[in-house]
Amino acid sequence: MNQWLDERLHISRLNDKFLRKAFPVHHSFFLGEITLFSLIVLIITGILLALAYEPSNSLVVNSFDPGTADKQNLIPAAYHSALKINAMPFGDMLRRVHHWMANIMVAAAVIHMMRIYFTGAFKKPREINWWIGMLLLIFAALTAVTGYILPYDNYAFQTVGVVYAIVKSVPWVGDWLAQAAFAGQFPGAGIIPRIYGYHIMLLPGILLALTGAHMLIMIKQKHTQPQYAKRLAYKKIVGVPLMTQQTPIMLILALLFTGLVMLFAAYIPVHPIEVFGPPSSTPIPNIKPDWYLLWVFGALAIIPGNLGFELFGGEINAEFIGAMVFPGLVIGLMFAVPMLDRAKDNQYYAENPTNHPVRLAAGTAFMAFLLMLSVAGYKPDLIQAGLLTTANSNAILWILVIAVPVVTYFATIGIVRMIRALREADERDSLAHAHADD
Ligand code: HEM
Repeated sequence: MNQWLDERLHISRLNDKFLRKAFPVHHSFFLGEITLFSLIVLIITGILLALAYEPSNSLVVNSFDPGTADKQNLIPAAYHSALKINAMPFGDMLRRVHHWMANIMVAAAVIHMMRIYFTGAFKKPREINWWIGMLLLIFAALTAVTGYILPYDNYAFQTVGVVYAIVKSVPWVGDWLAQAAFAGQFPGAGIIPRIYGYHIMLLPGILLALTGAHMLIMIKQKHTQPQYAKRLAYKKIVGVPLMTQQTPIMLILALLFTGLVMLFAAYIPVHPIEVFGPPSSTPIPNIKPDWYLLWVFGALAIIPGNLGFELFGGEINAEFIGAMVFPGLVIGLMFAVPMLDRAKDNQYYAENPTNHPVRLAAGTAFMAFLLMLSVAGYKPDLIQAGLLTTANSNAILWILVIAVPVVTYFATIGIVRMIRALREADERDSLAHAHADD
């Protein structure tokens, strides 16, 4: 069979070029793979959901509660089809797996990115893959947001209203931009077909193309190696080949991972669209995005509402500053990481984070900053719970957003110094023992 295929497709060349690639054996290197498995499961479950979903906001009679002949109960076809999927055998389960997998994919990509950052794997020659990874993260979040809109329950409706207003806040061209992106004034008749096109074709297409480029570059540049590889064979690639050793390991990991997510989804439901009901003018109190966009929401919540000013006839308002300019600067900083840390190239080995205290502390401080902004996203809930008041909430949350990262930075430096002192004492001890043995 092999020979038959080889004579026609020259697969042995493929084998020599790609399938013998050595994979480092270390648990942290599976994070990128888990992100990849999530993407694959999302595509499979997404295709199955698309078979039953109706991408239209035209009104249809609610077959679960038709109303009376005089007053029919009309709801958007998209919302109706989501209710129908819930009622189909395994339909609810399919929606749950798709939903939780999207969350896990973003979480796995973030943890994978942390591994890359803290071990210096973004350094020359891997800067391009860092930038492609950043784009993957942004497009993964956009894909998730568009997915939330598709069931078109009142929650989705109110959310898309918020997103529309944010796009509209862009000075000079906002109105045009929002109408172009959302197929007319919100909520226009074309909104669901437009978002559907983004969610099932445009954005997954971009994600697949970027993932392909990410993988090809990684194969070309080879992985950084775990520290133990240095001891085993200095500056040599240590690992197991993709074919035949790494592939079964990956398959087992993929099956185990998918099984665990399915078990989780079997017990933890997703947000109940039947409780929120079809789109209506009733606002939902304390509406919030998913955890990975909460920091943007937090920035929007604590930015002073009167910050706006006029510029060349356009209005730069607080919404634009909080939801576009500020996140743009934060994301820009993340893109700039390979340019900011240029201390020595890292061609071969994953660096020990404690040997790079400033990078480590900057990373933990940055995480604390995003976490505190996410806490600020709960401002209305904190006021409601009586923990803050309307008068003091902005000041207290700003103090947290600035002070906690500063404390985290210095605490990290202090902890690293302690670890290094202990390590050096340990090394001195073993040297002393070695001399004593001599
Ligand atoms: C959908 C999202 C992503 C997928 C599917 C993905 C997949 C992968 C895989 C499978 C690997 C090889 C295994 C590993 O090193 O863990 C890898 C390596 C890498 N990824 Fe990602 N990744 C994604 C997002 C990101 C992000 C957000 C970043 C950073 C901004 C990033 C930067 C890198 C870099 C620099 C490498 C090379 C690491 C090394 O040589 O040690 N990736 N990615």
